[in-house]
Amino acid sequence: MNKPEKIVSPELSEALVYPVDAFISREYAELEPERLWSKVWQQAGRVEELKDVGDYITYNICHDSILIVRDTPTSLKAFHNVCPHRGRRLVGDNTGGGPKTVAQDTGSHSARGSKLKFGCNYHAWTFGLDGAAIYIPDEEDWNGALNAGCTSLTPVQVDTWGGWIWINMDLEAGPLKDYLEPINTLIDPFEFDKMRYRFRFWGIFDCNWKVALEAFLEPYHVQGTHPQLIKYGDFYSFSKSFGLHGQTGFDSKAHRDVGTAVDTSVHRAAGDGDPRVTIAQMQAEYWETIGASTSETLVRTAQRLPEVLPEGTPAGEVHKRWLEMAQAEDAARGVEWPQLSDAQIAAAGLALSVFPNVNFIPGPTFSLAYRVRPYGTDPDKCIFEAVALDRFPEGEEPETEWVYVEQDLDKWPYVIAQDISNMVEVHRGYKSRGFKGNLPNPWQERKVTNLHYNLAKYMGIGAPQPL
Ligand code: FES
Ligand SMILES: [Fe+2]
Repeated sequence: MNKPEKIVSPELSEALVYPVDAFISREYAELEPERLWSKVWQQAGRVEELKDVGDYITYNICHDSILIVRDTPTSLKAFHNVCPHRGRRLVGDNTGGGPKTVAQDTGSHSARGSKLKFGCNYHAWTFGLDGAAIYIPDEEDWNGALNAGCTSLTPVQVDTWGGWIWINMDLEAGPLKDYLEPINTLIDPFEFDKMRYRFRFWGIFDCNWKVALEAFLEPYHVQGTHPQLIKYGDFYSFSKSFGLHGQTGFDSKAHRDVGTAVDTSVHRAAGDGDPRVTIAQMQAEYWETIGASTSETLVRTAQRLPEVLPEGTPAGEVHKRWLEMAQAEDAARGVEWPQLSDAQIAAAGLALSVFPNVNFIPGPTFSLAYRVRPYGTDPDKCIFEAVALDRFPEGEEPETEWVYVEQDLDKWPYVIAQDISNMVEVHRGYKSRGFKGNLPNPWQERKVTNLHYNLAKYMGIGAPQPL
């Protein structure tokens, strides 16, 4: 094999196998909140959800719920969403958190609202935006024993990057930016912070969260799962580990070690046909069957390529002209593109994952992002989310809400439904007595192996072993 060492992380480059415990073991799932989720930075929302002082959202993970609030025009605070008096959840319902005895399926995705103080519905203890108790009925009954330490909301670390809000329950955890490296450095040029939600879908699926996340971590599955996309070119890809995180990008079997913006970005001019036509067709199909991973402007301008460029225009030139046309159209409607060099687009690759549960597809004016969480500590269920970010003219950003979409293949965008179609079947397969352990592709699925390699570091079990 002629593999270029430049883009191969030596780590995890051998053939490895890992067991199914991380997916189906109840003991493993019960250990996750303590060993994993209480220690990692997690993407918990978007900054634009908290515009004004007092705006709040909740983020639920396993049995924990986190309350995130804008406490000043320039800062956020986060707390465990639990009343220190006798433990009532302070705001919202239990979807995605709470014990299994609470009916969750009909609950909302999360709580959202605006308050300058948070009053508990049980005995009316009330808390300010700094988490301190500002009203305790009949406080004198405690004879002075209460203090700020026991009556305040329990703080959680909160920070922002890329327009996303991130939380960490571990107050000793290092800074978010250190945790995210090098993903933040690679994505910063795309200015995610200037994008806004275009849609946000969520569902409760009958599979472990890792099964659902891994359905999006590698393009190795395209030939089997999305055969209709193969006509646009080879989806052969490299897969890298970046410490905790990972990256995939288009590759060739000759393993070119220097990618270009054309052949490493999601917009590559793919396939053997006339690139003016294949780009136009591929964009139209993406829009119809994914509804994301591109933008309306990119799709529309791609349709004009066969008219405005002469036959025989090289793929790289078609790609360049197309992006220039789209950028000019966007500028005319008040949407500024970031100054992205070809090298920056190439460096970002196709998709980047942030440990443990987020995957981004970056684009100059869009991102398609997946986040998957456990459902309580049930190993057989998860909360799956797919969101599209886009750029809008100032003042024309749409107001979006979380839209619940059932685990019904007809209800999801076609390509995402194709991915979902594997999830329950993989989860079932992991329970088969005949399954001997995962055999990830050492070149194309290293992002998946890397997830398990790092999960094992936190969990203390389940490390990939040499095959
Ligand atoms: S549990 Fe919240 S005031 Fe009593
Ligand atoms: Fe897929």
